[in-house]
Amino acid sequence: MANVAVIGAQWGDEGKGKVVDWLASRADIVVRFQGGHNAGHTLVVNGETYKLSLLPSGLARGKLGVIGNGVVIDPEALLAEIGRVRGQGLTVTPETLRIAENAALILPLHGALDRARESARGARKIGTTGRGIGPAYEDKVARRAIRVCDLAEPDTLSAKLDELLLHHNTLLAGLGAETFTKEALLARLLELAPQILPFAEPVWERLNEARQAGRRILFEGAQAVMLDNDHGTYPFVTSSNTVSATAASGTGLGPQAVGFVLGIAKAYCTRVGSGPFPTELTDDTGTLLGDRGHEFGTVTGRRRRCGWFDATLVRQAVKVGGVQGLALTKLDVLDGLPEIKVGVGYRIGGELFRRLPAAPGAQAAAEPVYETLEGWAESTRGARSWADLPAAAVKYVRRIEELVEAPVTLLSTSPERDDTIMVRDPFAD
Ligand code: IMP
Repeated sequence: MANVAVIGAQWGDEGKGKVVDWLASRADIVVRFQGGHNAGHTLVVNGETYKLSLLPSGLARGKLGVIGNGVVIDPEALLAEIGRVRGQGLTVTPETLRIAENAALILPLHGALDRARESARGARKIGTTGRGIGPAYEDKVARRAIRVCDLAEPDTLSAKLDELLLHHNTLLAGLGAETFTKEALLARLLELAPQILPFAEPVWERLNEARQAGRRILFEGAQAVMLDNDHGTYPFVTSSNTVSATAASGTGLGPQAVGFVLGIAKAYCTRVGSGPFPTELTDDTGTLLGDRGHEFGTVTGRRRRCGWFDATLVRQAVKVGGVQGLALTKLDVLDGLPEIKVGVGYRIGGELFRRLPAAPGAQAAAEPVYETLEGWAESTRGARSWADLPAAAVKYVRRIEELVEAPVTLLSTSPERDDTIMVRDPFAD
């Protein structure tokens, strides 16, 4: 039985929520493997809108949700989100949600450092979500993180807080930000411990058993390949690896368990935060795409930058992310445009590139090379089969497939779950 990993193939916000929800109804377990509550997935289930940041989307479909060791968990944010969705009628109990005991925690000092550093960067800021994601991953790699399992050992917690505060208070004071006291942090963590620990376990064991028993696992990626810490537009990236390989290391399964890799891409392109965006449109067409596509961040509420589909970038994401099929979303946003451009390469200092180079200077200087395709006057909204699509829209999709070197296996034509054209069932193998 195939498992499926869903990852973003651009800079995030590709409409993963709808696709993951659609696939979750066919899965037994939905697992988050990286990122934290910087993600924002909007789901509409039975007329109810759920905004999830940390909880796996499958919970809204009554499936077991697992938060893997690769995720950084803010216990306050987790409990607040659980409280919120419970208020909307979802059942979240240790029977429906499991959390890796070896996942690292995000503490208030991480958010404080994230925000203090961003304001110190001034115009060179990364545009982070300010939720402490970067500092929490830094602590994990530096071997001083407090992990979920530490909540069960007050002495360990106390010793680890000493080490953590030595590091963080020095930095915070240097940046002119408020510092933290051990007493307050320890007291709060000990208060939270009995609320978090019932969800904790070695999830690698449960997931390996589930795999052996032939249960279907859906790996729910957050952010996207161009925000990957190695492969993205560094330093304007997030602090985790967002590629499909992380679905294994971030859960405690081997790479064979990951299964079919579905990349999600919008039929155009958006980005929040700073950083290079070669096909960005700062004109009326960009505004039109943003208005029609309701391009506002779920987590930050910030207006997203919009631009043409960048096939060079998505092809790169397909390769480094191991994408086997693409889910193309929001095709209807392009309806009625007389012509549509697709980025097919970059000109940098007079040289033509078929990939985005790694150096920040080259990335910033990349001028897109476009191919212009014919638009379509008809509406594609709500189409449920290829036959419902105008010929020019089919041509557009086919050209994208050629350029990115991956088949479009799902096409989403409206926010409604059933307005989806499935070419290949990702769980079918
Ligand atoms: P951080 O993950 O909060 O450190 O932010 C680093 C970069 O990733 C910033 O440009 C954010 O805007 C971006 N980012 C983080 N999470 C998401 C997401 O879920 N969607 C889109 N962009 C994101």
